[in-house]
Amino acid sequence: FFSILFFYRYMRLTEEIRKKLLGFSPPTDNPVMPAPNYAEFYKSLGNPSRIVAPMVDASELAYRMLARKYGADLCYTPMLHSRMFCTSDMYREKHFTTCAGDRPLLVQFCGNCPRTVLEAAKFVEGSCDGVDLNLGCPQGIARKGHYGSFLMEDWNLIYSIITTLRRELAVPVTAKIRVYDDVDVTIAYVNMLVQAGISLLAIHGRTREMKGCETGLADWEIIRKVKERFPFLPIFANGNILCYDDIEKCMNATKCDGVMSAEALLYDPRLFSPVSKRLGLLNSRVYKKLPLTQELIDVVTSISYEYLDLAEEHQAVFGHVKAHMFKLLYHLLSHQPELREELNSVHEEKSIPDLRACVAMIRSKSVVALRESGVTQQEHISKESIIV
Ligand SMILES: Cc1cc2nc3c(=O)[nH]c(=O)nc-3n(C[C@H](O)[C@H](O)[C@H](O)COP(=O)(O)O)c2cc1C
Repeated sequence: FFSILFFYRYMRLTEEIRKKLLGFSPPTDNPVMPAPNYAEFYKSLGNPSRIVAPMVDASELAYRMLARKYGADLCYTPMLHSRMFCTSDMYREKHFTTCAGDRPLLVQFCGNCPRTVLEAAKFVEGSCDGVDLNLGCPQGIARKGHYGSFLMEDWNLIYSIITTLRRELAVPVTAKIRVYDDVDVTIAYVNMLVQAGISLLAIHGRTREMKGCETGLADWEIIRKVKERFPFLPIFANGNILCYDDIEKCMNATKCDGVMSAEALLYDPRLFSPVSKRLGLLNSRVYKKLPLTQELIDVVTSISYEYLDLAEEHQAVFGHVKAHMFKLLYHLLSHQPELREELNSVHEEKSIPDLRACVAMIRSKSVVALRESGVTQQEHISKESIIV
């Protein structure tokens, strides 16, 4: 009984909510504003098609700069908490940094109070190309704080946040959403966002419930239907972009203006560049362990050094840098899992040079392992030839 109750409470729209959402009409007390100039805004961003997703603790300045170097043509900041952004100088300084080369840039906020989101956005409007509203966060903390995807049943509130930003900000407003398990409601949802005045939309083709071990595949078909219904609105498709070849596949399947990638970029920041095709780093993470080769060692360590240089230059938060290193070095650590402990032992009080030394150590141990595996293979071959 309880699991059925849970299913209907959390996994599906109830008929009552569905009807309410489909019958939504914008509040009449908001003065109607002219529609944004979608094409002009998109052009001002440089017609981007390869987009770095917002990622808490991961799409920070240094990583954005690395991804830009390898083909990303638009980046989002990590989600910033609007109330904390307004009230804590420390939070602002720690979580929002940018530089001249960090454009085009969309700054993402979460929140549930129009005035607070506006106040937060005012801090950054001079340093970005647009302000994005997070409507997709599915985590427990978002449920508790009533933001992200937990606003999906409260369209009046979403409408009010977006119209407030639209009226009072000097830059355009964008949104990033998840889909419903219902095409009609998803299309009505996007229609509401368009009426509220968004200039661009990113659609993650998973529902709010698709997270953790329930993540599953993103639905490109529902994204295609939305794009078909709103051809004038620049839309990015998000989900299932794991390697370079997925870019074209997704563009063809969804007819969207661009694709957005998150997790795969953490393992291969060159994902948007054709150079990533050669090793197919993430492909191999999903399907199989990549064989240890000199080329793999060279590529993985040189990207790691490149990132560390940027992290040093842009004074990245040490904890974020270290988390990146585990992912960037994944393909070497998977051959020698005991080396994870070495990386783990580089603590907060240490610095980027210590991480660089750790990469050098992982590199040299990988070279030794490669040489030894070559010897073993050689021995194996000669034993086989003796048997023959
Ligand atoms: C480490 C990490 C942090 C994330 N943080 C955010 C965030 O701050 N804002 C947001 O809208 N989505 C966030 N997401 C979700 C991604 O932007 C993206 O929608 C999701 O991961 C699906 O894309 P992918 O299949 O390419 O990973 C995060 C995802 C990851 C892996």
